[in-house]
Amino acid sequence: MTDFGGTEVLRVDDSAVPVPGPDEVLIEVDAAGVTYGDVMKRQGAFGTFDLPAGLGQQVAGTVRRSCSGGPAVGSRVAGMVEHGYAELANAQADSVMPLPDSVDGRDAASLWVHGVTAYQTLRDAGRITSGDTVLVHAAAGGVGTLAIQLARLLGAGAVIGAAGTPQKLDHIRSYGADFAVDYSEAGWAKAVFELTDGRGVDLVLDSVGGQTSLDTLDCVAPFGRIVTFGAASGTPPTYSGMALMTQNLTVTGYSLMSWRSRPAAVSQALEQLLAFTADGRLRPKVTEYRLDEVVEAHRALVDRQTVGSLVLRP
Ligand SMILES: NC(=O)c1ccc[n+]([C@@H]2O[C@H](COP(=O)([O-])OP(=O)(O)OC[C@H]3O[C@@H](n4cnc5c(N)ncnc54)[C@H](OP(=O)(O)O)[C@@H]3O)[C@@H](O)[C@H]2O)c1
Repeated sequence: MTDFGGTEVLRVDDSAVPVPGPDEVLIEVDAAGVTYGDVMKRQGAFGTFDLPAGLGQQVAGTVRRSCSGGPAVGSRVAGMVEHGYAELANAQADSVMPLPDSVDGRDAASLWVHGVTAYQTLRDAGRITSGDTVLVHAAAGGVGTLAIQLARLLGAGAVIGAAGTPQKLDHIRSYGADFAVDYSEAGWAKAVFELTDGRGVDLVLDSVGGQTSLDTLDCVAPFGRIVTFGAASGTPPTYSGMALMTQNLTVTGYSLMSWRSRPAAVSQALEQLLAFTADGRLRPKVTEYRLDEVVEAHRALVDRQTVGSLVLRP
């Protein structure tokens, strides 16, 4: 990116081959995930940094240079990177995970950010308990499509996905949600409440914020938990303390960046995600774009035209 702003700041260009630092590996990128975080970074929502700069936090590919204690040169890995929209990218050696033979690179490229976030918001932040009824917002998206499947794998009794179009609701059902609700329609929270026979949901994954977060309070069970980890609407949640108090609700924040200070938990999550994907219990939904179609990929994401995860292939 050459500046902060709209998609006009994105350009495919030649740059020097990255030189890995002493704790880094050089990955030849097979697929680079595109996330909503990349969109926000481009828009300047995460602050400014030196430009021009690359984007892209999650990649899968083949190790071309390694470091002491790092993965073997030639091995296939998934890793977290700074500039993944590229043919070659450096990753911290402790962030890369070997790929099982049966896991495709493009699927693996959706797991580092989207998969780990879905898993950790359910398990670590949301403390999912067997039998919980779980509501996932933006459930047709990258994190959401994995979260509705993982909720079930982690013991949910019922899974409800919310999204904004009939096509997305079909997608959510086809990935195993028990119910799909259109949260662009007035009264959606009441509909969720009725789906739970008037009990409310136990756990909510909320990456949307704004009015959606406020409406959510109408369908959470007493003692329910809400994990807030994004604000795709442009506005973080503004719950009233009184509303939380009267229902004994817990709101927990989640940031993958902060969790990276606890690498063992993140690695365990990724390991589990790769195992679920290898044995077919987790089905990433991935749409491919060529690297030089990065503008189209970002536009589709901002225009809410996508389901599942997007990857760029160099
Ligand atoms: N905290 C963390 O560490 C962390 C890590 C990863 C992701 N995230 C957050 O998780 C969310 C999902 O990320 P993702 O990469 O998987 O994206 P995504 O869900 O594939 O795409 C974002 C979705 O948000 C929904 N949305 C609601 N209001 C929107 C608006 N005003 N503009 C655009 N989209 C809107 C759209 O679904 P509908 O059309 O169905 O409403 C859209 O498809 C994002 O908010 C992201 O910032 C946070």
